[in-house]
Amino acid sequence: MEKVRYGIIGVGNMGRSHALSLLGEVKGAELTAVCDISPERLEWAAEHLPEQIRRYKSASELFESQSVDAVLISTPHYDHPPLAIEALRHGLHVLIEKPAGVHTQAVQEMNDAAAKSDRKFGIMYNQRTNPLYQKLRELIQSGELGEIRRTNWIITNWYRSQNYYDSGGWRATWAGEGGGVLLNQDPHQLDLWQWTTGMMPKRIRAFCHFGKYRKIEVEDDVTAYVEYANGATGLFVTTTGEAPGTNRFEINGDNGKIVIEDGKLIFWRLRTPEPVFNAEFTGGFGAPECWKCEIPVAEGGGEQHVGILRNFTNAILHNEPLLAPGEEGIHGLTLSNAMYLSAWTDNWVELPIDSGRFHEMLMDKVRQSTFRKEAAVQTALDVTGTH
Ligand SMILES: NC(=O)c1ccc[n+]([C@@H]2O[C@H](COP(=O)([O-])OP(=O)(O)OC[C@H]3O[C@@H](n4cnc5c(N)ncnc54)[C@H](O)[C@@H]3O)[C@@H](O)[C@H]2O)c1
Repeated sequence: MEKVRYGIIGVGNMGRSHALSLLGEVKGAELTAVCDISPERLEWAAEHLPEQIRRYKSASELFESQSVDAVLISTPHYDHPPLAIEALRHGLHVLIEKPAGVHTQAVQEMNDAAAKSDRKFGIMYNQRTNPLYQKLRELIQSGELGEIRRTNWIITNWYRSQNYYDSGGWRATWAGEGGGVLLNQDPHQLDLWQWTTGMMPKRIRAFCHFGKYRKIEVEDDVTAYVEYANGATGLFVTTTGEAPGTNRFEINGDNGKIVIEDGKLIFWRLRTPEPVFNAEFTGGFGAPECWKCEIPVAEGGGEQHVGILRNFTNAILHNEPLLAPGEEGIHGLTLSNAMYLSAWTDNWVELPIDSGRFHEMLMDKVRQSTFRKEAAVQTALDVTGTH
């Protein structure tokens, strides 16, 4: 195979951005088809994409068409697992948008289907291409930071207005989206939190506020406290309703702390690891000598979505290792599912979570929902710079 023929399922905000990227920015990739259940979205495709690109009204037509080798699934989240499973069944390579799905039960089924198939399976974790997080991961995994003690992420700069929530009826509803800030905006951070540190918590206690700042039924403000097997703790604070927001990820270890904020990676490096200092120190007050080091990292945030598209294409053509294997989508989703469970039950949640119980409680939310959107306008938004 010289070129990977791609089909995009769902040409809304994100799908159309991927479609335009696949028209020339990704060597070895060729966009051959798009599919959307909305006639307006297909009209957009007819007007803006070259006319040889086929347009399908349903995913099943696309799967049967023999016109693609790989699909990129950018529909609302609930549909990611069933569409991925169906695409794999048709022998297609599958790249899904984040989050992997809404509940881990369905995502586990998708992972099982991928494990049985010999096709490539990836997830659009574009933030994994960001050199800041790649460097952080390297520093932690090489032991530079020592044993991790604390992982705190304040991610409150995902500001979203009411107009954003009103664009598209599925958004910020239990039935259509399955969650709010944790499921739409934060999948990137929930992925990076455990991808960079290499640790999943063993238990979580979370506090979610539902519709606190916007007329929505799902959460728009969350504070979660986590505990890890090695005794480390962490905090995850997020909202879409604050301005100006903060994006600060601080990881503390035996050898100091690393802070990522404002596009910089600062390592506050202890000359002597804290446990060693503590064992040797004979004075009254005192603290380890600390050097503030700005770690050089390439600017610009990396190749982002196009980087994942290039990597996925190279994985198919040249067996390049995937930067974001699809199977890993379950980790970040487990964290958000656990946070909801904790908030709904007003209690601690142990990991791995009881995925059946979470699914039941989520379906209760869907059934019991009386929420109606006042203004659900189906507009496509410009996604530039939002992720
Ligand atoms: N990686 C990122 O940075 C990033 C950014 C934005 C959105 N996303 C993800 O992309 C996905 C889509 O978000 P969006 O903002 O583009 O939504 P959107 O509503 O703008 O677009 C979704 C499109 O999917 C279509 N669709 C729905 N069900 C379908 C089906 N069964 N078959 C075919 N088409 C179907 C809809 O008609 C719509 O055109 C979400 O999962 C979201 O989390 C990822």
